[in-house]
Amino acid sequence: MTRTAQAPVDARFIERWSPRSFTGKAITTQEMMSLFEAARWAPSTSNTQPWRFVYGLAGSAGFDAIFNSLVPFNQGWANKACALIAVCSATTSVAPGTSEAKPSPNHAFDTGAAWMSLALQAQSMGWRTHAMGGFNADALRQTLGVPDGFAVQCVVAVGEQGPRESLPAALQEREMPNGRQPLEEMVAEGHFHFSR
Ligand SMILES: Cc1cc2nc3c(=O)[nH]c(=O)nc-3n(C[C@H](O)[C@H](O)[C@H](O)COP(=O)(O)O)c2cc1C
Repeated sequence: MTRTAQAPVDARFIERWSPRSFTGKAITTQEMMSLFEAARWAPSTSNTQPWRFVYGLAGSAGFDAIFNSLVPFNQGWANKACALIAVCSATTSVAPGTSEAKPSPNHAFDTGAAWMSLALQAQSMGWRTHAMGGFNADALRQTLGVPDGFAVQCVVAVGEQGPRESLPAALQEREMPNGRQPLEEMVAEGHFHFSR
């Protein structure tokens, strides 16, 4: 077992992991909206809510558009996902009472919080998620029509977890929950003493 809690924690945090084997089971649009609803309630800087999601269900042109932007490694397993989501963020925002768009320094941070909410909601519904940074951002921007002023942060595969054996041999070895660095290497009291 690679996952052991160092302190008492809600089990959902250590039970979530990112499989690559999916069954191909279809997800409904209504279920997808529950994932986005969870993301919708994430906290953000001045409640700017910079996250934007573009999704495609398996078998749709939207799915194919996102899938085609993935690097070959990710295409090798994400083809059985039931949905792909392009997670984008608005890089500027307009403060209440003003009309001028100004850079939003925390758009990526805030959108990361929203993605985690989405991932945990999916898990609670029996779906699994797997984020991917391995995609051609220019191609994805073009095919989805993402304009300037928005960043594409990652692509998320959603699916029902499948058997490890259905993956190519090289991926089967990696199909298990991984570990984490110890708390002592990421938490300090009062003084930043980390060298990396
Ligand atoms: C922004 C981001 C990009 C990632 N990119 C990829 C990727 O391109 N391909 C892949 O197989 N996994 C990718 N992952 C999955 C990570 O490798 C995985 O989340 C990490 O090893 C921790 O494992 P866990 O999610 O199973 O807990 C990515 C995860 C994140 C959050």
